[in-house]
Amino acid sequence: MPDDAMTLDSAARGILQANDRGGYTVPTSGLYPYQWNWDSAFAAWGLSTFDIDRAWTELETLFSGQWATGMVPHIIFHKTDSSYFPGPSVWGTDRAPPSSGISQPPVAATLARRIYEADPVAGRARLESLYPAMLDWHRWWRTHRCASGVAAVTHPWESGRDNCPDWDPGMANVDGSDVGEYVRHDTDHVDAAMRPEKEDYDRFIAIVQFGRNCGWDQGEIIASGPFYMADPAITFILIRANRDLAWIARTLGKDPGEAQVYADDLEAALPELWNSGLGCYDARDLRTGTFAGVLGSGSFLAWLAGVTNAEMEARLISVWNRVSFGIPSSDPAADTFDPRRYWRGPSWPVINSLIAIGLIEAGRFAEAERLRRETASLIETAGFWEYFDPLDGAPCGGPNFTWTAAIWLAWASPTAMGD
Ligand code: DGY
Repeated sequence: MPDDAMTLDSAARGILQANDRGGYTVPTSGLYPYQWNWDSAFAAWGLSTFDIDRAWTELETLFSGQWATGMVPHIIFHKTDSSYFPGPSVWGTDRAPPSSGISQPPVAATLARRIYEADPVAGRARLESLYPAMLDWHRWWRTHRCASGVAAVTHPWESGRDNCPDWDPGMANVDGSDVGEYVRHDTDHVDAAMRPEKEDYDRFIAIVQFGRNCGWDQGEIIASGPFYMADPAITFILIRANRDLAWIARTLGKDPGEAQVYADDLEAALPELWNSGLGCYDARDLRTGTFAGVLGSGSFLAWLAGVTNAEMEARLISVWNRVSFGIPSSDPAADTFDPRRYWRGPSWPVINSLIAIGLIEAGRFAEAERLRRETASLIETAGFWEYFDPLDGAPCGGPNFTWTAAIWLAWASPTAMGD
């Protein structure tokens, strides 16, 4: 094994340990001082490469924040920290521990399966006790986010891809003019040119205020909330997660039927998101029917769900070929492309890892290896940053980032190649 790979493995383990706050891992200190939902699931995947017990604890702490409705919130505020906005009082969810009022991409079942497969003996009892909570969460998605057939989000933050152009049509109809004064802290930690703009934040906060004012009543949010868009990425992630949950059920000797039906129904509804003008699955505003019309990294997650067709795959590869370092979060040929501004263009190692899982399973080994190499070279050159400019590889966002370290250990490192 090359020495530099071993050194980076050790640095990645050091980041996961330094970001450990006792049973959960923060994405990076300062910028994100709490437990984030999908960040934690990736942290668990990385932890499973060297501390399987701690990996399961990460998921257990995440599900300890689950609401009685089944929702697993996108942030759990275990300890107060004034370095983040919007904190618990803005969300006003009245929970213990305090949490946000929306969810985040449901990758936990997919990664729990991988963690179990890494050590089935150590994982059996832990998986067995998490299974009902994961099923409840998938039921919540089905009940509260899949009314149109595919999966929708009620806040761009629920998608995890906060300011990607996918959300532009829905965000255009959100009135952010009356949110009042607030102070952002993200730009204390990261160059403002790499973060969402003020107009985005005004609208993000307006959507939170709507949820808080209706007591996070999901019926009200779906019927008349300011933002409601169907998301190809969450749909693909949820198809995959339901299939993995069905696999987990079978492994535990339980009936896989419910999760399997959820996956099949989502797949059957996919034509709703097919944008023939774009030649791929696209985000769609459920209030107006408008497609986003911009190909983003969410569309590439079709591979994770095992959804393929020749036209779409050729189109995806042609967009990837416009950059040098992994999958751009938005098409470089579109006017909205901004190579360093969060989800409006950058390459995200964590999304690359999910797409690579799908490429391998589709038998596209050359593309999977290309994606691993491009992602690894970003980390080898600049370190464990949150995201990167896909054109020149410049590091962006927060440093010492948990999920970048995690996917290095579990997938991008040469030492992870047996996967
Ligand atoms: C943020 O604060 O930037 C987060 O992405 C919201 O989850």
